[in-house]
Amino acid sequence: MTAPDLPIELKAALEARLEGLSRVATASRAALISSTYRDGGGSGAIRSERDALAYALARMPATYAAVIASLNALREITPQLAPTSLLDVGAGPGTATWAAAEAFPSLQRFTLIDSNSALRALALDLIGQSVRLRDVEYRHAEARAALVDAEPSELVVASYAIAEISEPERTALVDALWTKTRDTLLIVEPGTPAGYARIIDVRAQLIAAGAHVAAPCPHDRKCPLTAPDWCHFTQRLPRSRAHKQIKAAERPFEDEKFIYLALTRAPATVHRSRVLRQPEFTKVEVTAKLCTAAGLAIAKVPRRAKADYARARHWRWGDAVMSPEDKPSLEP
Ligand SMILES: C[S@@+](CC[C@H](N)C(=O)[O-])C[C@H]1O[C@@H](n2cnc3c(N)ncnc32)[C@H](O)[C@@H]1O
Repeated sequence: MTAPDLPIELKAALEARLEGLSRVATASRAALISSTYRDGGGSGAIRSERDALAYALARMPATYAAVIASLNALREITPQLAPTSLLDVGAGPGTATWAAAEAFPSLQRFTLIDSNSALRALALDLIGQSVRLRDVEYRHAEARAALVDAEPSELVVASYAIAEISEPERTALVDALWTKTRDTLLIVEPGTPAGYARIIDVRAQLIAAGAHVAAPCPHDRKCPLTAPDWCHFTQRLPRSRAHKQIKAAERPFEDEKFIYLALTRAPATVHRSRVLRQPEFTKVEVTAKLCTAAGLAIAKVPRRAKADYARARHWRWGDAVMSPEDKPSLEP
């Protein structure tokens, strides 16, 4: 499993760019960009080099951690996956490219697409610090237009990008992403009800087009959750000193809520139930809410089922687990 912390050279490159700049001014720039995001304004507020840096310092550690968590979950279900090419759409500062490069040593060809010139410039500057990523192709273009003649890739990622695409445009973009996917498409979104709703729409659209869900769902059927419940996960990540200053935060960590969807051309051979929230652990039993191949289940694993209980004590929110529903029989 790959760690959720930014790679050392990326963290150093980001923090080096902060040197000589006012941290207070950068923090207020980051706060303004965040509030534009919250109001649905997307990355339109990122226009200058300093805006791009403020955004990356504030958000890249968390979006990186969410992409790593999603890639870890994907690799657990498809351990044979070893892509050689990556297409990172809505790449911004290059977050998902850095994450995929860490998770998959097999990657050799990296193509990034984004319409924001300030984020692209920062991404290329940061990538310049990496021997591995030195030869990336980063296209400055609107995603769907650029996808028309993009080379298909084994792994295609859209991280925190779908949210910025208007609804009528989204269906066409998702089709274009899938067309360029040779093996696996990963979409990562904020872990909000709106992010979940977008993921559910993409899921239905692409299953109808022949895609299979590798993760997080252990099935290709309709999501069994009903509002106000929504599927999402959380990833804890460390905050560096600079990160804390930019976010005007005290805590040395943050928890990023995210939702992801990994779709593959071939059905996954491994199916595991997914833990949908933090399980409850008592001396008597472990109780966990699971999404299983047969639907939602509240699994209760009693202490007297020694081996199962010992395993279930390690279950965490987001894990893929062998549940009572996946096994023909458990000890009573
Ligand atoms: C929230 S940022 C996420 C950046 C990066 N993927 C990450 O996870 O940190 C969304 C990115 O999508 C890009 N984007 C939005 N709409 C786009 C479009 N139609 N074509 C290309 N890029 C787009 C924005 O410019 C921005 O860089």
